[in-house]
Amino acid sequence: MIKIAPSILSADFATMGEDIKRLESWGADYVHCDVMDGVYVPNITFGPKMISDIKRFTTLPLDVHLMITEPERYISNFRDAGADIITVHQESTIHLHRVLHQIRDTGASPGVVLNPATPVCMLENVLDDVDMVLLMSVNPGFGGQKFIQATIGKIKKLREMAGDRNIDIEVDGGVNGDNAKTLIEAGANVFVMGNALFGADDPASIVSSVKCIR
Ligand code: DX5
Ligand code: ZN
Repeated sequence: MIKIAPSILSADFATMGEDIKRLESWGADYVHCDVMDGVYVPNITFGPKMISDIKRFTTLPLDVHLMITEPERYISNFRDAGADIITVHQESTIHLHRVLHQIRDTGASPGVVLNPATPVCMLENVLDDVDMVLLMSVNPGFGGQKFIQATIGKIKKLREMAGDRNIDIEVDGGVNGDNAKTLIEAGANVFVMGNALFGADDPASIVSSVKCIR
């Protein structure tokens, strides 16, 4: 099933509650929350308090993308704040398997993220431990960047590796109404969209057209 996860990095942080209501009206499936610590990535966004404040404004699942070093230190904080899906970068922790189980044990759905330069073979031994793999199609840190084409080959390879496992493949960075079809054909089914939606005149029509792609 195709799902759309608007990234609130492109929203107005001063009127976040209203922006959350807007993205619900577009037909979004998840709220994608980009947590950045200024160490793992060269930008700083927000922490668990923003997650718990957002939670009051929506019933949509919160898809929390942790771009932080040592994510294991904060899993329970984000879960307590209301995160439904928690994704951690393979490159951000020494004990990836342990963190993924830590997430599962809180009751949240675990996912793993790969930067553009990290090959999908790095996930060979954790595919049974995740519900979702998030492939970064830009270098993490900022919205509005250009989609990196090499991601398409990674999606295909990962879909093959996943075999008959029920794993969502999410793509994040530079995704829009024009490249979504190619990503779906390659095997991805969850799309983070920041600027493509928040900068559009009619975001609802983009969401529905992507969800109708077969
Ligand atoms: C980048 C973030 C993305 C970003 C996507 O580090 O993980 O979620 O907000 O924004 P767009 O869709 O504008 O590339
Ligand atoms: Zn993200």
